[in-house]
Amino acid sequence: MDFHELILNRQSTRKYLPDDVDRTLVTECIEAARLAPSACNSQPWHFIAVDDKDKIKEIGTAAASLGMNKFAADVPVIIAVVLEKMNFTAKIGSMLKNKDYCMLDLGIAVEHFCLQAAEKGLGTCILGWFDEKKVAGILGVPGNKRIPLLITMGYPDCEIRKKIRKPLEEISSWNSY
Ligand SMILES: Cc1cc2nc3c(=O)[nH]c(=O)nc-3n(C[C@H](O)[C@H](O)[C@H](O)COP(=O)(O)O)c2cc1C
Repeated sequence: MDFHELILNRQSTRKYLPDDVDRTLVTECIEAARLAPSACNSQPWHFIAVDDKDKIKEIGTAAASLGMNKFAADVPVIIAVVLEKMNFTAKIGSMLKNKDYCMLDLGIAVEHFCLQAAEKGLGTCILGWFDEKKVAGILGVPGNKRIPLLITMGYPDCEIRKKIRKPLEEISSWNSY
């Protein structure tokens, strides 16, 4: 798969085959996330891979509300992305420049994970809508740490969709806004 093909293949997968995912594959995706860039190389992340079915049920239930994320209780793997402390320079830079570097870092790492998964034929869906406190309780994440995102993962049980995106002219320009 070349890079463009990979980008087209990566999509939010909300229906999975019941097949388990080998832990080696999950680890390879975490490795791809580990290699992601971050402000001042701060690497403010910790990935918890969950393949215990009972825990997945509990986490999925904590992610389902107002009609969102009903699928999440029945997926082969969930990754919880925990936000760790930024290093000193990233923290200072973040403050002085009023930019949330650590959230940007996490987003980039998560996309590395998802693209690596797509390259392995695995589907993923990034979840930002879930009860963070409940998920922290289920996974033993200390109360002072945030879990900005979850990622569901498994073998897709759906076709590749056409991407719906704003046109290039609307989202980009040359030389001025
Ligand atoms: C930060 C973030 C949070 C998201 N949260 C959810 C979510 O809670 N539930 C869900 O089904 N999809 C979620 N998505 C997936 C988006 O809906 C999806 O990426 C977007 O509609 C584009 O579709 P595609 O991923 O299939 O290309 C999230 C994506 C991102 C980047």
